[in-house]
Amino acid sequence: MISEKLSKVIRDVPDFPKPGILFKDITPVLANPELSAEVSQTFFDYWSTKNVEGVVGIESRGFIYGLQLAQQLGVPFIPVRKAGKLPYQTIKHSYDLEYGSAEIEIHVDAITKGQRVLIHDDLLATGGTALAAAELIRKIGGEVIGYSFLVELSFLKGQERLKGSGEVHSLVTF
Ligand code: PRP
Ligand code: MG
Repeated sequence: MISEKLSKVIRDVPDFPKPGILFKDITPVLANPELSAEVSQTFFDYWSTKNVEGVVGIESRGFIYGLQLAQQLGVPFIPVRKAGKLPYQTIKHSYDLEYGSAEIEIHVDAITKGQRVLIHDDLLATGGTALAAAELIRKIGGEVIGYSFLVELSFLKGQERLKGSGEVHSLVTF
């Protein structure tokens, strides 16, 4: 089972980036090419039947598997970035994080009207980031059909916040 493999390999780093936060470090997964290939394949198998027309990846860790998934599905990869990084005309959205707050943005022409996109990120914590990305997508006319994560932290109840706004798929839950 991929979830068991991931739970063994993902490394806990206490007190990062702030005291009291137990950080889930996915770099050991990236360092393991067989497991990393299995991660990509599992994402692809899940989403390949769902008529996805674009993958939105959230900076920065959502770019890692997000681009691969988009390429495997044969659909555009659309970056959502932290404010001030995208060069063309953007729209912005502010939101609260598990630690601190942030502002993200998307290019205004990144999605066509009615385009069926999924949102990919490495980790679902409070769901604030994913919801902010969904907000941006809807503002420019896209349809969010689901959310894809490597890791879900169930005690932060992100899944509940995303309820009703598309299906949620995670490879491992802590
Ligand atoms: C982390 C993680 C998710 C988000 C999850 O990103 O990669 O994007 O927080 O938190 P939430 O569900 O509570 O919104 P972070 O902002 O630390 O940046 P990074 O991906 O660039 O490291
Ligand atoms: Mg992130």
